[in-house]
Amino acid sequence: MSAKVAFLGLGVMGFPMAGHLKAKGYDVTVYNRNPAKAEAWVQKHGGRSAPTPAAAAEGAEFVFMCVGNDNDVMAVGAEALKGMKAGTVLIDHTTASADAARKLAGQAKEKGVAFIDAPVSGGQAGAENGKLTVMCGGDAAAFERARPVMDSYGRAVTLMGATGAGQLTKMVNQICIAGLVQGLSEGIAFAEKAGLDADLVLDVISKGAAQSWQMENRGKTMHQRKFDFGFAVDWMRKDLGICIKEAKRNGARLPVTQVVLGYYDDVSKAGGNRYDTSSLITRL
Ligand SMILES: NC(=O)c1ccc[n+]([C@@H]2O[C@H](COP(=O)([O-])OP(=O)(O)OC[C@H]3O[C@@H](n4cnc5c(N)ncnc54)[C@H](OP(=O)(O)O)[C@@H]3O)[C@@H](O)[C@H]2O)c1
Repeated sequence: MSAKVAFLGLGVMGFPMAGHLKAKGYDVTVYNRNPAKAEAWVQKHGGRSAPTPAAAAEGAEFVFMCVGNDNDVMAVGAEALKGMKAGTVLIDHTTASADAARKLAGQAKEKGVAFIDAPVSGGQAGAENGKLTVMCGGDAAAFERARPVMDSYGRAVTLMGATGAGQLTKMVNQICIAGLVQGLSEGIAFAEKAGLDADLVLDVISKGAAQSWQMENRGKTMHQRKFDFGFAVDWMRKDLGICIKEAKRNGARLPVTQVVLGYYDDVSKAGGNRYDTSSLITRL
């Protein structure tokens, strides 16, 4: 349990994920661009912080990162690789494109480092409770080595296929969520206009065929217009943009996803960029 690991990027997701690694007994070094967050993490969890990704990664058997978008992944990943030795594993929990995963995997391979794209689902609460779904792409042997470490914060850690397959699976996840949240918004807004008790409606229909994670976890708070549950509108716009770009390449049609992306653009323009994704109802 004392393997040396590094965690780069202590945002809403990374901060608690790195905390679970420390709690499981791993020897953790963290890096965050804004050093105040790294200091706060060390104060809370112990362990060490380092001033650069390369310094944090030095001597680590597993290096994890959870940053923002493709550009951030490429920048932080390239820096981390400078500190990594052959035989170690770089794991990226950022939601990014499959292309970025393949590019970074190529750079890692040149150094003899294995790369796993491993985006997560489950939100801030999943990261805090250690119950994330982790969708992985990459080499099976490297995945088997990294899996027990990821189990520290993962409820379901699964290898989906070769490099990029984790990111492609996360795209499916986001496509499935986008249209559903719009449907849920329309249903709740309709219930309000119809003069129904929206909470009672949600209690009743969540026991039938309309049930969903979004309905159970976000329905009532959407009715209360509370939108502070972590996964920001601007992250969703990034994710749906990635899905649409990939669909142009593979020929899949995403008519509803495309429309919902436009709706999220509206919410963002109206000042809701840091609201969570259930804020689609504000347009109605
Ligand atoms: N929040 C969720 O519910 C959720 C759920 C699933 C997946 N995700 C995905 O997980 C990733 C992180 O999300 P989050 O909510 O944790 O974001 P966040 O709170 O905004 O944190 C982003 C982290 O990445 C760091 N970072 C970004 N760009 C960087 C760069 N170029 N160089 C160095 N550090 C950089 C930030 O450093 P600073 O502190 O210095 O800015 C921060 O530590 C995103 O790809 C998101 O789509 C999020």
